[in-house]
Amino acid sequence: MSQRKNYIWLVCLLLLSSYTIADEVQLSEANKHCLECHANQTFKFYNEWMETTSIRMMNPFYIIDSVSYLSSVHGGFNCFDCHSPDYETYPHNAELKLEPLNTCIDCHGGDETYADFKFDMIEEEFSKSVHYEISGESFTCSKCHNPHYYKTTARISASINEIVSYNNTMCLSCHNNDLKYQTVSGTQLPQLGKVHDWLPNQELHFQKVRCIECHTHVVDSFMVSHNIMPKEEALNDCNGCHSANSLLKASLYKYQNIQARSEEGKLGALISNEAYIIGANQNPFLKLLSWIIFAVTLFAIALHWIFRTIKRKKS
Ligand code: HEC
Ligand code: HEC
Ligand code: HEC
Ligand code: HEC
Ligand code: HEC
Ligand code: HEC
Ligand code: HEC
Repeated sequence: MSQRKNYIWLVCLLLLSSYTIADEVQLSEANKHCLECHANQTFKFYNEWMETTSIRMMNPFYIIDSVSYLSSVHGGFNCFDCHSPDYETYPHNAELKLEPLNTCIDCHGGDETYADFKFDMIEEEFSKSVHYEISGESFTCSKCHNPHYYKTTARISASINEIVSYNNTMCLSCHNNDLKYQTVSGTQLPQLGKVHDWLPNQELHFQKVRCIECHTHVVDSFMVSHNIMPKEEALNDCNGCHSANSLLKASLYKYQNIQARSEEGKLGALISNEAYIIGANQNPFLKLLSWIIFAVTLFAIALHWIFRTIKRKKS
């Protein structure tokens, strides 16, 4: 009886250790090479003309935060999955600047696996938005969705405040930043504070509601409406939100309904979300620990087997 118990323990330990090893998201060797330069403020390279090692400063806009990269939807990607493998050498070939990069739709158009996200409908909505109408092709999806950091916050976050802040930061990355604004438009950046001076407690509102609440029509058929309307059509009616049938119930607060539902019924979905985050945040210590457990388990099995054969020989 006690022997069977031992077996069960061994199997449990094995499962546990292999689970922790497999669940880990880590920088690949190829990415480490790129990030040796692109995750730091300075970088080193061998200067073939001078035959010395040179140290230079990295352009701050080309620095990538590797922690945010790993926890993004594409955190498991190699840089090469999107960029040319010719970036391997430094100095990078100047012509690489001309390389056309895949857009979200190049990869996700007609995407069966992620049909739930309705990429094609999003593209259609986006093409009706003021941004696309005014700026055209130069306004790509990645102007809002940083391809290195994008997360599906509205789906995975349990906090409305976090969702609002994540969303509004996307808009403010331009509407509060002259430089980025100029990459898509030649016009002067309007001062948001002035534009919204009719709205009391502006700061509180920008913390509690998303820009898209007032600047898009709520669409029931998907999570996030992408049709930013001209300013004349923006919502300026206080009752739109401050009333019994607030539009927020159908837009921002619908995530809370979804969460409440999944807590009761679809526990599985919730757990797999949690596991995804835990996996992305694992540290080297846990990795070492899981290897130790693994080794001890193997050792225990070996020992057990040796004793059994000795015992059998004796009897
Ligand atoms: C030795 C340091 C170093 C390494 C290693 C490195 N880069 Fe760079 N990279 C730079 C610097 C510096 C720039 C700024 C522009 C320049 O000097 O060409 C840059 C620019 C870039 C750009 C922007 C090009 C543009 O102007 O639009 C991309 C994309 C890029 N690197 C990707 C990569 C990838 C992918 C890897 C890994 C395969 C990589 N880099 C490895 C130093 C490096
Ligand atoms: C999912 C695709 C994707 C992956 C994976 C990816 N990139 Fe990028 N990267 C892009 C796109 C798209 C742009 C252009 C962004 C723009 O112009 O709006 C870009 C731009 C850059 C730039 C120029 C600076 C900037 O933000 O415009 C650098 C540097 C860069 N990438 C380095 C890397 C490195 C290093 C890796 C790997 C750690 C990597 N990228 C992985 C898609 C990707
Ligand atoms: C080079 C092709 C490629 C490009 C470009 C690309 N993706 Fe992805 N994307 C993928 C693949 C492959 C996966 C599945 C990744 C996985 O399962 O680890 C994915 C996963 C996703 C997911 C699902 C995450 C989840 O919950 O599992 C979303 C959302 C997403 N991408 C959005 C975008 C957006 C937005 C863009 C543009 C900024 C984009 N992708 C650009 C290939 C791409
Ligand atoms: C003006 C900014 C903006 C542009 C441009 C934009 N998006 Fe979005 N997108 C958002 C915001 C904000 C969210 C909500 C993010 C969150 O909270 O998860 C979002 C969410 C998404 C989601 C997740 C929806 C879900 O069901 O969880 C996908 C997929 C997506 N966008 C794809 C695209 C594609 C494809 C394009 C280009 C055709 C694009 N987006 C252009 C702002 C933008
Ligand atoms: C409570 C509703 C509401 C919220 C929240 C809101 N806006 Fe507005 N916004 C408006 C209205 C209404 C106008 C039109 C004002 C006018 O024409 O005088 C406007 C105008 C604008 C304009 C046009 C500026 C111009 O004159 O060209 C921009 C850009 C803008 N908003 C961006 C944002 C951004 C970015 C956010 C989030 C940080 C945001 N808005 C949040 C209601 C809102
Ligand atoms: C890459 C930069 C960029 C990002 C990111 C961005 N915008 Fe804009 N937006 C612009 C530019 C540029 C214009 C003005 C176009 C013009 O007049 O040339 C504009 C115009 C607007 C307008 C005014 C339209 C009008 O009628 O004049 C609104 C409203 C607006 N944006 C809301 C948003 C919201 C909401 C988000 C986030 C979901 C967002 N923007 C993200 C660059 C950006
Ligand atoms: C897009 C939805 C929306 C619109 C439109 C809107 N509000 Fe609000 N408002 C909110 C939210 C959400 C809060 C924060 C509630 C909270 O957390 O207490 C808020 C907070 C406030 C507060 C502060 C209340 C407090 O507890 O301190 C005042 C005052 C207010 N709004 C007035 C207005 C007025 C006046 C208008 C019209 C000019 C308006 N709001 C339009 C959503 C909206």
